[in-house]
Amino acid sequence: MNQTIENLIKHTAVRDFTDQTITNEQKNNLIAAAQHGSTSEFIQAFSIIEITDSNLRNKLADITISSPHVREADTFYIFVADLHRQASMLRANKMNLDSLKNMESLLVATIDTAIAAQNMATAAESMELGICYIGSIRNNIKQVAELLNLPDFTVPLFGMTIGVPKFKNQLKPRMPKQNQIATNSYDEESFNNLNDYDNTVKNYYLNRKSHPNDNSWTEKNLDIFKHIRRPDVAQFLRNQGFSLN
Ligand SMILES: Cc1cc2nc3c(=O)[nH]c(=O)nc-3n(C[C@H](O)[C@H](O)[C@H](O)COP(=O)(O)O)c2cc1C
Repeated sequence: MNQTIENLIKHTAVRDFTDQTITNEQKNNLIAAAQHGSTSEFIQAFSIIEITDSNLRNKLADITISSPHVREADTFYIFVADLHRQASMLRANKMNLDSLKNMESLLVATIDTAIAAQNMATAAESMELGICYIGSIRNNIKQVAELLNLPDFTVPLFGMTIGVPKFKNQLKPRMPKQNQIATNSYDEESFNNLNDYDNTVKNYYLNRKSHPNDNSWTEKNLDIFKHIRRPDVAQFLRNQGFSLN
């Protein structure tokens, strides 16, 4: 196993950071890594906004509620799915925007953004920095867009806190291969035979040092999906110009 794979496999979200700052050189490397990910048809449909203003950072942290490390991490980036450049080009050329509005374009921009973010995460972890994605900015996606002056055809998807880890959580056990990896066709039976994995996750949660609990993976998922989450996101996307068709 090479160093890159070893680093990927020892990933764990970091939510406690020291006061150490990240150097400009490190930040430049993080951004370069993010910018050089694969991108659908070379459209580079994302933007990254660093939040350096502490007042703004606090407002964003308030929106995330459950993520105090948003306030404390040395560096905080917001990842924005962004087709606004393409909208401007089409407008400048008096072309209609229908091709940007559909679900396919929104998916493409979302995928481009996630690839950029994960490239940054991998780069950060290769420099012994810790990261945590912050999807909870979508607790109030409209307010985030207003705070960042986001134009149409943009979506603030998630943030990422980055800093020097104070400590690292134990690794969270992933599913055994037979629950997630198949050959040639979807393996309905194996993928849903989660008893062993439920026990593994329950043991992990019972024995972990911070916030132990006794949930299995199935129980955790039932808890997550018993409510419709963030129902306002769809209307926000429509307001940003997406038809969702
Ligand atoms: C898109 C995305 C959004 C996330 N949002 C949050 C968040 O708002 N707050 C948080 O503490 N962790 C967040 N996480 C981190 C996950 O909880 C974490 O990755 C997951 O529990 C697996 O743990 P691990 O990364 O330590 O292996 C997010 C992860 C992803 C990929």
